[in-house]
Amino acid sequence: MSDSKDYLEVNRQTWNEKTKSHVGSDFYDQKNFLAGKSSLNQIELDLLGDVKGMSILHLQCHFGQDSISLSRMGAHVTGIDFSDTAIAEAEKFAKQVGADTRFVCCDVYSLPQMLTGNFDFVFTSYGTIGWLPDIDKWAGVVAHYLKPGGSFIMAEFHPVVWMFDNDFKEIQYRYFNDQPILETETGTYAEKDAPIRTKTITWNHALGEVCTALNNHGIALTQLREFDYSPYNIFPDSEEYEPGKFRMKKFGNKLPLIYALSGIKRD
Ligand SMILES: C[S@@+](CC[C@H](N)C(=O)[O-])C[C@H]1O[C@@H](n2cnc3c(N)ncnc32)[C@H](O)[C@@H]1O
Repeated sequence: MSDSKDYLEVNRQTWNEKTKSHVGSDFYDQKNFLAGKSSLNQIELDLLGDVKGMSILHLQCHFGQDSISLSRMGAHVTGIDFSDTAIAEAEKFAKQVGADTRFVCCDVYSLPQMLTGNFDFVFTSYGTIGWLPDIDKWAGVVAHYLKPGGSFIMAEFHPVVWMFDNDFKEIQYRYFNDQPILETETGTYAEKDAPIRTKTITWNHALGEVCTALNNHGIALTQLREFDYSPYNIFPDSEEYEPGKFRMKKFGNKLPLIYALSGIKRD
């Protein structure tokens, strides 16, 4: 198993592998996406509101579906991700659908050395901060790119979810972030039978840790919402109890699965 000091290289390789499976997967439904379907969920759309004409920095944009969806809503979007495979696909798809979305290949922490400017919105969603060891440093990057009065919008899997083993049989990890979680995974959430085996190095970030870091970097929280469902069918033995809302059968509505927040950069 790798040392967590190598996390950037280990995780980058993993995401390059995952991206190859994800692009053609039913999960990402690229055919309908290219035909015009938005990849954004109501949870983040409610927090984003009207983004027409707004500049948006989208952190950890994967192969660009959400970034391009935001461009289609009339925003001027820059998507960043450290996976060169994902960024190459994102650029290809933006060109294919005629979106003016800009993409930058870079890890979150190095971005200030690579990208200048500031934005009306910074956005990140679903499966992002767990790849980053230092949430205070991340919040510093978010704040760095927000205009005074600009909004940070985030939707993320709830840290309670990451306490469980992959089958959700038992609690395996602490809620609090005190050490990296090193795992080897077969397949990927978007294609469980994908013939790939990847190593991951992740961190569980408690809600308090995230909110405190944002506040310390001058981002005042305006909303914090928790949800007892996931818009993605990625957890074992789940049911779609309402269209687009998934829960594990054995837990019903007892667990928080998602949280979403918005904050405003103080002047
Ligand atoms: C789960 S995906 C983002 C989810 C997005 N909502 C989606 O499904 O399209 C996580 C993304 O984070 C990126 N990533 C992981 N660690 C990163 C880092 N240190 N810097 C930049 N991107 C990173 C990965 O390459 C991947 O594209």
